[in-house]
Amino acid sequence: MSQMPTVTLSHGSEMPRVGLGTSPLNDNDAERVVSTALELGYRLIDTAENYRNEVGVGRALKGAPREEVFVTSKFNKRWHSVDGPRQAFEASTEKLGVDYLDLLLIHWPNPAQDRYVEAWQGLIALREAGLVRAIGTSNFKPTHLQRLIDETGVAPEVNQVQLSPVWTKAAEREFHSLHGIVTEAWSPLGKGTDLLTHPTIQQIAKNHDRSPGQVVLRWETQQAIVPIPKSANPTRLAQNLAVFDFDLTSDELASLDALDGTAKAPADSDRAGH
Ligand SMILES: NC(=O)c1ccc[n+]([C@@H]2O[C@H](COP(=O)([O-])OP(=O)(O)OC[C@H]3O[C@@H](n4cnc5c(N)ncnc54)[C@H](OP(=O)(O)O)[C@@H]3O)[C@@H](O)[C@H]2O)c1
Repeated sequence: MSQMPTVTLSHGSEMPRVGLGTSPLNDNDAERVVSTALELGYRLIDTAENYRNEVGVGRALKGAPREEVFVTSKFNKRWHSVDGPRQAFEASTEKLGVDYLDLLLIHWPNPAQDRYVEAWQGLIALREAGLVRAIGTSNFKPTHLQRLIDETGVAPEVNQVQLSPVWTKAAEREFHSLHGIVTEAWSPLGKGTDLLTHPTIQQIAKNHDRSPGQVVLRWETQQAIVPIPKSANPTRLAQNLAVFDFDLTSDELASLDALDGTAKAPADSDRAGH
């Protein structure tokens, strides 16, 4: 594969520093888009039980050697018990047609149900059994993460949160870096906001002769955040991967940081029912 930079997770896995999001693609679209993405050099594919496209993602994965692709899935709240993650793992791997996952995430803490610590214990056991290479969380706030650490002594390797220059998640990122947790960004292009047409981004894009999307993804990758942009368009798929051959200046990074909080409220788009 091409030179995709990686970050080393706390348990030793190498995770590509940019990936492909697959929501809201259905099975057929996911098969087509993931196949194109693999040809372009993507080596991290993000799916979830909730996206109902693991079968399509799995069909596309047949086109690349299994060990070259970092496959992430996530499971829903019905599996929040000590045994649940094993069952979720079996269902996801059967649909994907793989025998291990590179990363399995608790999709949302679901604090009202309050069983995410048990789910975390189940994930730790899955990693010990060698069925998943890395384990993590999604949409966990520092209080949820602290509770996992207090009750099990084990921190997630990754926490996937909604993050872009309009929601910079400073508190989360600080907590993550204190505990060796890699920050993965969903909606990294600020989906549902006018981020990509903001004059600040447009100007920085001009400075570097890049697209606004590339500027935003560079703001993330330059700060060790792993973005998983979704695109179904081959040109944009290629653009979203080409974000390691230019650097934003510290002034440009700061002017992007200053966009924090300027968008309307987060969409919380795919969390209901997780
Ligand atoms: N853990 C969670 O709770 C959670 C929640 C939401 C999403 N996610 C994951 O995160 C992934 C990404 O998030 P997202 O899909 O919400 O948002 P996103 O990646 O920020 O934005 C996707 C949108 O941006 C467009 N786009 C892609 N590349 C572009 C570029 N270079 N320039 C301009 N527009 C571009 C896409 O359209 P085209 O397809 O037409 O290019 C699509 O409409 C999802 O696919 C999913 O895997 C996780």
